[in-house]
Amino acid sequence: MKRAVCPGSFDPITYGHLDIIERASAHFDQVVVAVLENRTKASLFTVAERIEMIRETTSKFPNVIVDSWSGLLVDYCKTNSVQAIVKGLRAVTDFDYELQMAQVNLQSGIETMFMATAPAHSFLSSSLVKELAHYGGDVSSMVPKNVNAALKVQVARK
Ligand code: PNS
Repeated sequence: MKRAVCPGSFDPITYGHLDIIERASAHFDQVVVAVLENRTKASLFTVAERIEMIRETTSKFPNVIVDSWSGLLVDYCKTNSVQAIVKGLRAVTDFDYELQMAQVNLQSGIETMFMATAPAHSFLSSSLVKELAHYGGDVSSMVPKNVNAALKVQVARK
């Protein structure tokens, strides 16, 4: 079975992430969306909340599953029989860092495949969405409905 991982913080998932996940699912038997449990990085949503939002928005793709992990991504890949990491590249500014990580991960025998982000999503990031939502901006074109609703709840709480 050809299994790939789409890793990330997904705090929260955006239409940019979803586009990459959907397109990756057309090329692999199974795609695992893996949420990094990073205890050193402050996040808006808990890992459980992020997983739930991703599950809701990817349930229409039968070969996509959602998981979380902590530690090195290559270790997750080896433990879970994942052969490839799939990442979206939004712009050349993503490239240096992503190439460096891909080369480090290749030393452990794990391939990284880059997909060009669809132009409609090239400006999109979870950080931008959070900032816009924080100041009452409209992010309905950037995130799925369930994420938009969850962002409104978070903003109202603060
Ligand atoms: O959504 P993000 O925060 O840009 O995702 C980055 C992520 C989680 C994919 C990346 O930081 C990662 O793979 N972290 C796990 C640790 C690791 O394996 N690092 C690469 C080798 S140093």
